Amino acid sequence: MEIRALQGEIEQVQAEAAVVTIFEDKTAPPESQSVLDRVDGVLGGLIQSLIQAGEIKGKVNETTLIHTFGRLAPARLLVVGLGKREEFSPLRVRRAAGTAARFLRRRGCRKVSSLLHGAGLDIPAAESARMVVEGTLVGLYSPDLHKTGERQPRDLEQLLLVGTQPEVGASLEPVLTAGQMTAEAVNLARDLGNEPANIMTPAAFAQKAKELAESAGLQIQVLEEADMQRLDMGGLLAVASGSEQPAKLVTLLHKPVEDTSLLTLVGKGITFDSGGISLKPREGMEKMKNDMAGAAAVLAAMWAIARMELPLNVLAVIPLTENLLSGKAFRPGDVLRTMAGKTIEIITTDAEGRLVLADALAYAVQQGATHVVDVATLTGSCAVALGGLASGLFSTDEDLADALVEAGELAGERLWRLPTYPEYKETMESKVADMKNVGGRYGDASNAAVLLREFVGDKPWAHIDIAATDWNEKTKSYLAEGPTGVGVGTMLRLAERMSRPESP
Ligand code: BES
Ligand code: ZN
Ligand code: ZN
Repeated sequence: MEIRALQGEIEQVQAEAAVVTIFEDKTAPPESQSVLDRVDGVLGGLIQSLIQAGEIKGKVNETTLIHTFGRLAPARLLVVGLGKREEFSPLRVRRAAGTAARFLRRRGCRKVSSLLHGAGLDIPAAESARMVVEGTLVGLYSPDLHKTGERQPRDLEQLLLVGTQPEVGASLEPVLTAGQMTAEAVNLARDLGNEPANIMTPAAFAQKAKELAESAGLQIQVLEEADMQRLDMGGLLAVASGSEQPAKLVTLLHKPVEDTSLLTLVGKGITFDSGGISLKPREGMEKMKNDMAGAAAVLAAMWAIARMELPLNVLAVIPLTENLLSGKAFRPGDVLRTMAGKTIEIITTDAEGRLVLADALAYAVQQGATHVVDVATLTGSCAVALGGLASGLFSTDEDLADALVEAGELAGERLWRLPTYPEYKETMESKVADMKNVGGRYGDASNAAVLLREFVGDKPWAHIDIAATDWNEKTKSYLAEGPTGVGVGTMLRLAERMSRPESP
């Protein structure tokens, strides 16, 4: 898709459709309001009459398509609702863009122009432009990877961002490229998650990582089970024991600068989580093909970090395996020894994410991580607490936690802080080993986080639990059903922030 920014008035720019927005109080953001007023002048008060007739209400993501019959340069005007003015947030801009793109694609419009929604409302024009680009490309994603019939067009041909702001024009190009690379990374993570577990095996994931590393100039290393044995990765190997698919541990390195700082991203990569011997209920188990969403997000973010050539050292550590059952599978009651030397008594084999992460985190520290962020579809408990509306954020480092919340805001991903009180550890005390892998039904999201904490030493660390936010349950006007690619945007914005010299 061709994406360009153009300074000017949108009603004078040729397009099959031009996108503007309106609030529920029937007023619009300044930029949009002046377009609506001017258009009303040309079209004899048409928009006002549609508002009066109740056809345009301005409800969130409401769409009204107006044909202009040659009286304006754009053949159509699409008015998208932004909802209540007092509820306005950058997320609404992304969703308005996604809603418009999906709606117009359905109508066969290929050349689209859009205002920089929200640019007159405290959002810098460049930020708005990036949000519209990301919202559009993420909105257009479709999960029909394996449909064999004729496919609908997936893309638009052209997106023109039009505004009268002084910064709109060729100087926005780097921002548009950043937006495009971010969205491509988000959609890559969604593709990886959409691939079923019979295709996206640990080996296939590692192969894909190799291809991406080669294309983006990342150093890659793939550890095999023999290496894991040598490193004493008893957590990862125990989970892998029930599967015919060999486990892999992928590391990717982006090292453009000569200092010792090393942001390390760790992603849970369970290519299918059946629960193991502690089998999950059958209902919805197919979604557990996306239990590698953390791994996918880390790989995709890393790909974007390299493509954007961010001047920051970043390492990705991605443990990959399946959690299945067989005569060789690990069992409740087993005791295993992790790379860090700590032993864990298994209470349920379904709490496998924390076992593979224990080893991956210890490996990250051994590799010289100075900041660690892990992303994982870790606990149903977090999903129950926050639903699909926010990911859980756990951290013992205030600066890193604040930076992540801010990065999430920029990326359109909500993070909500949950506690890591040391007392959670008491729930996991074991009679036979250093700890149990679960501490009971209550507070499991925090229990799991505190268990992970044991394996990162004193490094600044944050854990993002994306159970529930990793999967969109039902197609929305701005987003297809299925994997969301959550985490990619946040990690990327964090890396962008850390690569600016003034940041701590
Ligand atoms: N992958 C699941 C967590 C999950 C649940 C992710 C729902 C996405 C949606 C994890 O491995 C798991 O099974 N956790 C168990 C732990 C429990 C047995 C202590 C859970 O949360 O039920
Ligand atoms: Zn599980
Ligand atoms: Zn899992």
